Amino acid sequence: MRIDAISIFPDYFNVLELSLLGKAKQSGLIEFQAHDLRSWTTDKHKTVDDSPYGGGAGMVMKPEPWGLAFDDVLTPKSTVIFTTPAGIPFTQKLAQELSTREHLVFACGRYEGIDQRVVENARSEVEVLEISIGDYVLNGGEVAALAMLEAITRLMPGFMGNAESIVEESHSDGLLEYPSYTKPQSWRGLEVPEVLLSGHHAEIEKWRRAQSVERTRQNRPDLID
Ligand code: ADE
Repeated sequence: MRIDAISIFPDYFNVLELSLLGKAKQSGLIEFQAHDLRSWTTDKHKTVDDSPYGGGAGMVMKPEPWGLAFDDVLTPKSTVIFTTPAGIPFTQKLAQELSTREHLVFACGRYEGIDQRVVENARSEVEVLEISIGDYVLNGGEVAALAMLEAITRLMPGFMGNAESIVEESHSDGLLEYPSYTKPQSWRGLEVPEVLLSGHHAEIEKWRRAQSVERTRQNRPDLID
């Protein structure tokens, strides 16, 4: 998979050199490039924003640098993701879907967002999604893009060592994952639940399922009909 990120703070993406994604890049599974939006400005001050038509607080990102950036970076097989708190919710299902794409381009907005014609123009050429990672507002889309990138790339075949842990984890079946325990069996007066020591696989499955349902009911009642 090829991934590009366009931002006025491309250094945000330096953290991708760390951990699993760094290894996936080295192995050639993922080809990643961060770009500085200002390199597509044409004025002396490298201006990327201006005041909003209609008035109001804050600044809006100008369309021209984005248009030139997309002219250079997009191909007919690209999917553009605009990171915005006004987008559709990012979910495990969407991560799964996007992990099958050939080329993802993250367009990271700052300020009050990007001139909406940039979205319209990109949509006339390639698949475009406006996505939010949650009901809160970040200073810009870079951290949102990093979160999505990590959720998407770990689902790619060959990325994770243990495919089973992906099948069992939270949200893969619509429920939160059951609690986990490891050694020692007794710690600060707290014991590992008896059933997990029993060796009865059917009983363990039943217990884990009940824990998943209870945890989901407590923490995320919205996930249960
Ligand atoms: N940019 C600012 N806030 C955001 C959010 N919640 N999700 C995606 N992009 C954002």
